[in-house]
Amino acid sequence: MKKEIIVLPGDGVGREVMEAAKTVLRAIADEYDHQFVFHEHEIGGAAIDQYGVPLPEETIDACMHGDAILLGAVGGPKWDHVAPDIRPEKGLLGIRKQLGLYANLRPVKGFKALLQASPLKEEILGESDILIVRELTGGLYFGRPSERRDSGNTVVDTLSYTREEMERIIETGFESAMKRRKKLTSVDKANVLESSRMWREIVEEKAAQYPEVEVEHLLVDAAAMKLITEPSRFDVIVTENLFGDILSDEASVLTGSLGMLPSASLRRDGVGMYEPVHGSAPDIAGKGVANPIGMILSAAMMLRYSFGLEEEAREIERAVDECLEQGYFTPDLFIPGGTPVGTAEMTARIIENVTAKSISDSICGM
Ligand code: NAD
Ligand code: IPM
Ligand code: MN
Repeated sequence: MKKEIIVLPGDGVGREVMEAAKTVLRAIADEYDHQFVFHEHEIGGAAIDQYGVPLPEETIDACMHGDAILLGAVGGPKWDHVAPDIRPEKGLLGIRKQLGLYANLRPVKGFKALLQASPLKEEILGESDILIVRELTGGLYFGRPSERRDSGNTVVDTLSYTREEMERIIETGFESAMKRRKKLTSVDKANVLESSRMWREIVEEKAAQYPEVEVEHLLVDAAAMKLITEPSRFDVIVTENLFGDILSDEASVLTGSLGMLPSASLRRDGVGMYEPVHGSAPDIAGKGVANPIGMILSAAMMLRYSFGLEEEAREIERAVDECLEQGYFTPDLFIPGGTPVGTAEMTARIIENVTAKSISDSICGM
C-alpha cells in the first residue's frame, strides 16, 4: 500500500516525537511491504518564524491533498506574546476547523507495566479503559465575538453550538460505545449552561436509537472527581470541546503520563489528523527525553482509522507494550527495576520489538 502522509512536526517536543513516529512507521513499512511517503510542512511557531503566520496556505493545501496528517505539537514561550490572531495555537485550531475534523477520539488505557507510574493506587486504577470523545470544532474555542471591550476592561468569549454540531459528535459517542462496552457517559454543565441543556436533550433523543447503550449524565465538576476516584466506571465519555480538553489531560494521570496519550481527529469520511494529547513541553524540549509513545500510538491510530491497517496498528501497540514490559521508560514515567532511557532509545527499543515479532514469526513458520 502506498500512502502520502502529511507531517506537521510543529514546535518543541513535537519535532522530537515526530521523528520517533516516522522511524516506527518506516519499520512497519519494511515489515509489511508498504510505502509511506512523508511530506513535511510547517505549522505553529515554526510557521510564524518562516512565513509570519501559524497556518500557511501551502500547509493547508498539502493537508487537503494528503492521505492522512500527523501533527506533533505547537506553541512555546517564544511566541507567547505575538498577536492573538497569529498565535501558534491558532494554526492548530485553524487546520482542525478548515478540514472539519470535529470528532477527537482520545483513548486512555493503562499499561500493566506502568501501574506504579501513576500517583493513583493500583486498586483504584483497576483495568481502566476509557475513550474520551471530544467535540473539536465548536464551542468557546471558536466563539464569535471573542474580544475586549470598554477600553480593554470587559472581555467576551462566546460559547456557541448548532444542533447539528452537537448531534454528530453525540452520535460518534454512541457509535463508539456500541463498539466497546456499551456505556456512554455524557458530560456537561446543564445546571448552568444553556448549551449543556440542549446537549442533554440531544443525548436523550439519541439514546432512544441506541437502546443497548447504558447512558448516564454527569456534570463536569463531578466527572472530574469521579475520573480520579472511580476511573473503571467509565467506558465512553462524550463531551464538548473545552470540557474534553481538560478532562483528557486529567485522565492521562491514569496512564502515568500525559506523554502516553494518542488521539485521532476525524470527520465522517475518514479523513484524519493524528496528534498526541500533549503540547510542546517547553520545560523538556531539546533535551532528548520526551516520551514518544503518545505520538507513536497516534501513528498507530492513523494506520487503523485512515488506512484500514488494523494488523499493523496492533503491531505498533504490541511493540509499545512489550517495550514497557521489558522495563524501558522515559523520565516522565517510572517502572520499578526498569531502565530509564531517552526518546531515541525508547523508539529504538519499540522498533526492536516490531522486528522481534517478525523474527519469531519466521522461526515458527520454519
Ligand atoms: P504540555 O502538554 O506541553 O506540558 C505539560 C507537562 O507535561 C509538562 O510538564 C511537560 O514536560 C509534560 N509533557 C508533555 N508532553 C510530554 C512528553 N511527550 N513526554 C514527557 N513529558 C511531557 O502543556 P503546557 O506546558 O501547558 O503547554 C506548552 C505549550 O504547548 C503551550 O504553548 C500550549 O498552548 C501548547 N500545547 C499544544 C498542544 C498541541 O499542539 N496539541 C497541546 C497542549 C498544549
Ligand atoms: C489539545 C491542546 C489544544 C486544545 C490547544 C493547543 C489549542 O490543548 O490539543 O488538547 O486545547 O485543543
Ligand atoms: Mn489540551
